[in-house]
Amino acid sequence: MATIEPLTDGPLMVKGVAQCRNSRGEAIAVEDTFYLCRCGGSSKKPFCDGTHKKIGFKSAREAPPPSGGTSPVSGGKSGAAAAAPCVQVKKDGPYLVTGVPDLKCDVAPPDPAQYALCRCGASKTKPYCDGTHRAIGFTDDKN
Ligand code: FES
Repeated sequence: MATIEPLTDGPLMVKGVAQCRNSRGEAIAVEDTFYLCRCGGSSKKPFCDGTHKKIGFKSAREAPPPSGGTSPVSGGKSGAAAAAPCVQVKKDGPYLVTGVPDLKCDVAPPDPAQYALCRCGASKTKPYCDGTHRAIGFTDDKN
């Protein structure tokens, strides 16, 4: 089963997601388990290169997601896994996740079938994107 686990003060651990695409729709080769940068500082974006440790990245949430639930997400929800598991890197923005309802997070995504995870490191509603990437001018020319 496809899962994504935001690791404390570290990357997103992704398992069982065969499709990863850059913002141009091109496939990015991935292993069965891979680690996506969410501190914004990796030189190997979208993958983690350990930079989070050097910059002291903290993954604690500073504000509740605006429309998130309050219960942990576990297991699949019927219908939510209909799409093939996929992580799409958005241009200078978050990861758009589809087909991975099993997000290991204490706050459920508003829609488990599709949600956006921060990769700039600055969201106040981690692991979710809150749009802060625009305010800080986050860029990723390669993806
Ligand atoms: S990618 Fe970090 S707030 Fe959107």
